[in-house]
Amino acid sequence: MNVPFLDLKAHHDPIRKELNQAIAEVIDAGAFAGGPFVAAFERDFAAYCDTRFAAGLGNGTDALWLSLLALGVGPGDEVITVPSTFMATAEAISFCGARPVFVDVDDRTYTMDPALLESAITSRTRAIIPVHLFGQMADMDPILELARRHGLPVVEDACQAHGALYKGRKAGSLGVAGCFSFYPGKNLGALGEAGAVVTNDPELEARIKVLRDHGQARKYFHSRIGWNARMDGIQAAALRVKLKRLEAANSRRRANAGLYDELLGPSDEVVTPYAAPDNRHVYHVYAVRVRARDRLLESLAGKGISCAIHYPVPLHLQEAYRSLGYTGGSFPVAERCAAEFLSLPMFPELSREQVQTVATELMACVSPGKLQQCTV
Ligand SMILES: Cc1ncc(COP(=O)(O)O)c(C=O)c1O
Repeated sequence: MNVPFLDLKAHHDPIRKELNQAIAEVIDAGAFAGGPFVAAFERDFAAYCDTRFAAGLGNGTDALWLSLLALGVGPGDEVITVPSTFMATAEAISFCGARPVFVDVDDRTYTMDPALLESAITSRTRAIIPVHLFGQMADMDPILELARRHGLPVVEDACQAHGALYKGRKAGSLGVAGCFSFYPGKNLGALGEAGAVVTNDPELEARIKVLRDHGQARKYFHSRIGWNARMDGIQAAALRVKLKRLEAANSRRRANAGLYDELLGPSDEVVTPYAAPDNRHVYHVYAVRVRARDRLLESLAGKGISCAIHYPVPLHLQEAYRSLGYTGGSFPVAERCAAEFLSLPMFPELSREQVQTVATELMACVSPGKLQQCTV
């Protein structure tokens, strides 16, 4: 049996009529860039995230970048984040002219280790970006408490965590801003590129909305230099259709993850994801840790099972960030994870039989022997 890593066709087929109808309405109204469909999605998404406002944007990278710009981050500043994330988290910092400063991740949750945060704060620090990696929120209470003590804003990178909860609170609603990507494969995915920032701060919302539209609040009157980072109407209309199904889709992801957990663990050879007790993990990615990961990926591909690696090189060791001066060994947990992570097929429509096939083939291919603990 072939098992794809992701099956967007299976996701869209049951709602194709509704999506076509939503798109037709945008075409009829001619409201393609920003406009009423974006405003309607912003209302729905803010309500879903338990925040007062949402600003629809072109993608998740824009969401991070404009949040930082709106907070006044600029050249000479430092912003703290983690090396175990997608490049966009750090790129957004760099595109403000600021410097990314990394702290290592916790070896069970793979999110920012709050115990390492304080020593990274300097007089130049202007913001902290915890990343809710793979669909699990970072341990926000100690991060928020440290940030409060140092007078720093926390911007959540919630691009992989639509609908995740931390102690009953929604991803994106805990920091001053929550940044989302609606890249098609995300838990809430558009039919192209899209993103959003959610916030409870009306001034931040207003600044982001001016920045996304060439620095204008009134057409052709530019109060500052901005950018074109608007969400388009067709994406907003499609996202409204899909938002209604997000809770059900997340529940199916969680059920699939539960079945993987049951079939794969506990074992010496495979470390399954750890879901912290107060969290609702929404499994954007189901990543296990294994030895000889690259060989295993190839063996599974040979059996028709598509896996992926998120991410093979931690950001501090990326060529683009060589100038930051980090070396191998700077962040041992992130480095270990990058060598061992293997993302298994995960999407809401994955069948029980597909999960069983993946688990059986994985266990047949893993090298025997116990995995070491990450902690160095
Ligand atoms: C953690 C994280 N941050 C930021 C982004 C950037 O989002 P986008 O691709 O919509 O620009 C992504 C998307 O892959 C992501 O996974």
